[in-house]
Amino acid sequence: MNRAKILGTGAAVPKKLLTNADLAKIVETSDQWITDRTGIKERHIVSEGEKFSDLCTKAAEIALKRAHVKPEELDMILVGTISGDMVFPAASCFVQKNLGATRAAASDVGAACVGFLYGLHLADGLIQSDKAGNVLVIGGEILSRYVDWTDRSTCVLFGDGAGAVVLQATKGDHGILGSRMKSNGNYADFICMPGGGSNFPASDPRTIEQKLPYIRMKGNETFKVAVKAMADVTADLLAEQGFTNEDVQLFIPHQANERIIDAVASRLKFPAERVYKNVERYGNTSSASIPIALDECVQAERVKTGDLVLLTAFGAGLVWGSVLLRW
Ligand code: ACO
Repeated sequence: MNRAKILGTGAAVPKKLLTNADLAKIVETSDQWITDRTGIKERHIVSEGEKFSDLCTKAAEIALKRAHVKPEELDMILVGTISGDMVFPAASCFVQKNLGATRAAASDVGAACVGFLYGLHLADGLIQSDKAGNVLVIGGEILSRYVDWTDRSTCVLFGDGAGAVVLQATKGDHGILGSRMKSNGNYADFICMPGGGSNFPASDPRTIEQKLPYIRMKGNETFKVAVKAMADVTADLLAEQGFTNEDVQLFIPHQANERIIDAVASRLKFPAERVYKNVERYGNTSSASIPIALDECVQAERVKTGDLVLLTAFGAGLVWGSVLLRW
């Protein structure tokens, strides 16, 4: 059986930094509140004219270079995102053009903060079934363009960025060992952006009047469901693969909120030194959070050949899932 192995990682974030102090100048908030409730200190935000697909292309070029794979060798490009350049075509098509990935099929994966993990899950299926040999999976988001900058309960949370991995079919023991993805549309109203889709197109005057093209979130409810959902799916995946938390060297949960990360790690009994956190520096970059964190771990040599790496995420849908890899 083919196994999907990560050959290279890359990440890119916009230059512009927005600190908690900057936010305190535009909404009634404070560094203390944001730090205590979320663990976030600063986030990168796109400037006027910066494009989503350019950020993804930058992350992808780094990953391809490190993987020693040429763009024209890619069979598939999957971009996990809910904030592509346009409603259509898919962001992946702009990335495909920018890279010159002449042979690749391209599609977006709309699973909010879990878009990157859904992308890994699908790429693994394509590679296992011999439908693709080289797959580029990107998680990217520029949610700063969807944030209501007058709503202090959401505007302090999000940051922009992109992360990419190149997966290749191998016959060895290293790569994706297993993955589990879940969904529950009954909770669609927990996190959503009601305007800009076909219910309320951007051209409908009600879209702007009712402030529909902005992120809406029931933070408290989301928090509770997120912790249980991520802990349960991760525990199930580990058990299915015949491992316990003791076997895992690196646990990378979605970087939404430090308190959520700590609560999930505590439920799964992971000691702090095996749990990766960078939410302080990036905020919640949605589908980009895990590939950016993974790239940092690889560059810092925090993950070694043979290590078990466990990823989990949660987001609007609701959707959630886990992926287990042997590095
Ligand atoms: N600064 C100061 N005060 C604030 C702020 C702010 N930025 N935001 C809210 N408050 C106030 C509220 O008005 C409230 O005041 P009140 O008690 O007078 O009514 C108080 O702080 C407490 O508000 P809560 O919403 O109860 O705060 P909570 O501790 O739940 O933290 C938070 C809010 C950070 C949003 C938390 O609920 C959370 O992280 N939820 C999960 C969000 C998440 O993970 N989303 C992931 C998916 S995103 C995606 O898929 C795109």
